[in-house]
Amino acid sequence: MPKILISENVAGPAINALRAAHEVVYDPQLWKSPELLKAAVVDAGALIIRNQTKVTGELLVAAPQLKIVARAGVGVDNIDIAAATAAGIVVSYTPAANAVSVAELAIGLMLALARNIPAADADTRAGGWNRQRYMGTELAGKTLGVVGFGRIGQMTAERARAFEMKIIAADAWLKPGSPALTRLGATLLSLEALLAEADVVTLHVPLTPETNGLISAPQLAVMKPSAVLINTARGEVIDEPALLAALESRQIAGAALDVRRVEPPGPSPFDQMPNVIVLPHLGAFTFEAQERVVEALSRDVLLVLAGNAAIEYFNFPKPR
Ligand code: MLT
Repeated sequence: MPKILISENVAGPAINALRAAHEVVYDPQLWKSPELLKAAVVDAGALIIRNQTKVTGELLVAAPQLKIVARAGVGVDNIDIAAATAAGIVVSYTPAANAVSVAELAIGLMLALARNIPAADADTRAGGWNRQRYMGTELAGKTLGVVGFGRIGQMTAERARAFEMKIIAADAWLKPGSPALTRLGATLLSLEALLAEADVVTLHVPLTPETNGLISAPQLAVMKPSAVLINTARGEVIDEPALLAALESRQIAGAALDVRRVEPPGPSPFDQMPNVIVLPHLGAFTFEAQERVVEALSRDVLLVLAGNAAIEYFNFPKPR
């Protein structure tokens, strides 16, 4: 029976079920060592990963028995898709399983920034009682700019409408009048127009060569001084030094960063800024989402290793 290699922290009852049919090697620290990973993948039929394992062309060459790379999550930017496709290896992922959790976190971060919740909490714990200092703003009546109006962007917009926010969207793939825009009462704008108009900007684009550095100094320069920026997508979408400069000069009012260019990022000036929230890439980390993610990827690994087609695949359903 083919070996299943898990190189990151992907656990749960569905993973235990894989052990009934296969040898499962679970080493959640393996992603940190490309050399050890390369040695471990030699006899693997399936590789299960999150976003930290770099699945390079070189790694895939070292894995002659590999039939499937199963990504616990939606972003496949850490996988060399072209190399996997050329090698006939299925890349499966779980595009729907964690979407609600990410959208809920984006809403949580909006509220936390609008009402200064983390800074006021830290101050109160330290003995302060500063109601004037932590005067906030309402979301009602404000404009939410959703950059990337796919599944997560739409779910965020849907929830923001319950807070009486006006929705504007920028998306390179959508056309004006598309059903998603109509359903959510959203207006499609260029990125520049959205950034100039929004009170809250939330990023929901995948990481691609086109979105790497999408929000840099020129984009931050058109935002309102009262606007805040929320990133639950990928760290690379924001030029971090440009964001730091924009926050220091009060070009924008605040930011919430769930994702970073380098993860974990190490100490950073953002850590000291009361108008910035930093989180350790928690978007998908709810019990409900992780149960769905692990169930979906385990199902597809079992299907492919048994010679059947994967259900949620990025390139093709069966090894070639
Ligand atoms: C995803 O791509 O689904 C999220 O970033 C979650 C993750 O990588 O763990």
